[in-house]
Amino acid sequence: MRIQIINGPNLNLLGTREPEIYGKKGFEEYLNVLRNAFPNIRIDYYQSNVEGELINKIHEVGFEADGIVLNAGAYTHYSLALMDAIKCVSTPVVEVHISNVHQREEFRHHSVISPACKGVICGFGLNSYRLAIEALLHMK
Ligand code: DQA
Repeated sequence: MRIQIINGPNLNLLGTREPEIYGKKGFEEYLNVLRNAFPNIRIDYYQSNVEGELINKIHEVGFEADGIVLNAGAYTHYSLALMDAIKCVSTPVVEVHISNVHQREEFRHHSVISPACKGVICGFGLNSYRLAIEALLHMK
């Protein structure tokens, strides 16, 4: 089984970016935790700050991977191009957010990508990614 994690803009700065909201752990460090938690699953990781590169990655893996865990960052709230990209591929996509976006500013309450995703997990810190993988495993 192969899962692709895709992180969008500013998530390369996890650990230093607004630690009171996103925590103090960098994603690479958390990736080790995740890979240890799912030793039988291949977990690939990609991060980009560029919308088109995220779309290219979804196209690249979206017919081969068994699941995509996508944190689109702020693109979540306005990228119709990302929403279309998710609709273009056959691999199920789970939308994740580290923070509980519904407890935050109004503009974060709406996701344009949710309708194209299998489901949404938000508000559990980095654990949101683990829960998303669990959800994909149980779809099998
Ligand atoms: C985020 C929430 C978004 O609103 C924000 O723009 C991010 C991170 C989260 O993981 O909580 O970059 O997706």
